Amino acid sequence: MTHARAHPNIALVKYWGKQTKPGNLPATPNLSITLDSLATDTVVTAHHQDEVWLNQEQVTDQKILRFLAELRCEFELAPIRIETSNNFPTGAGLASSASGFAALICAINQHADLGLDADLMSDWARRGSASAARSLFGGYVALVPPLWRAQPIAPASHWPLKAVVAITNETRKSISSSEGMERSRLTSDFYTPWLRGSGDDFAAAFDAINNKDFSALAEIAELSCLKMHSVMLTSLPTLSYWNPATLACMDAVRNLRKQGTAVFFTIDAGPQVKAVCEPQDANRVSDVLTQVPGVIRTLTCGLGNAAHIVEP
Ligand code: PMV
Repeated sequence: MTHARAHPNIALVKYWGKQTKPGNLPATPNLSITLDSLATDTVVTAHHQDEVWLNQEQVTDQKILRFLAELRCEFELAPIRIETSNNFPTGAGLASSASGFAALICAINQHADLGLDADLMSDWARRGSASAARSLFGGYVALVPPLWRAQPIAPASHWPLKAVVAITNETRKSISSSEGMERSRLTSDFYTPWLRGSGDDFAAAFDAINNKDFSALAEIAELSCLKMHSVMLTSLPTLSYWNPATLACMDAVRNLRKQGTAVFFTIDAGPQVKAVCEPQDANRVSDVLTQVPGVIRTLTCGLGNAAHIVEP
């Protein structure tokens, strides 16, 4: 039995859109922070056939089955039972597929003795879900060409920011990120400008992190998020992931900032709002977001560590 744990990550410079060549390669460089208190735990055991259990229920997960098939093209991998569970809502814009594939490759690597280092595990995780490549590492992480394996750019200790996650809806999203990205690539007039601006956005965020320049990071992270959602909204049919509470949280974050609190928001393919702030402001940000009508609860996370094996 092998038990691996990985944490979800949130992109500060977003990935939305894939290259058309094989390998599940993002079309734009992207950058994230790995979170600490949210986690996926995955246990892999030898079994007479492949089985996948998600949060104690047996499921047929085509993405995982495709991933296993791809692995078996390169490695000897006997049938396995995969039991995976998340301590946070699954498939609701909280990056459960990122932590999920990072934990899965980490567990399989150990179980089947594949001999992959973190770089190669990141490469494999990316094939399952591109953002998963980033969850192999802790702290601040970049996913860039030419290899599209994630690289740690700074440890959590460099700048230990907090992320307050405001949950506004816990149900699964109806359109997967992959399907949404393809729709955007094919139909949004904003898709090409989005690709064109992504290198500069990445460079600005990278510098802001190196210099621990909160207001520069806030500006570029909100811009990247809003550009991504503009691409989503202008896709045909439109991809609209927000609800009224999402918009109210964005306003609340802007108001906090006007009042002098260093905080910015980011939102992925779902209605949850992640407010990134300095540690001393996390309680205040959480208190304010908890009061926003439609917010079910908030979760406060620090920056987390890399995907790893949990010793028995
Ligand atoms: O890796 P996927 O297919 O779950 O896509 C992730 C897309 C976003 O979360 C919206 C952005 C990102 O960079 O994480």
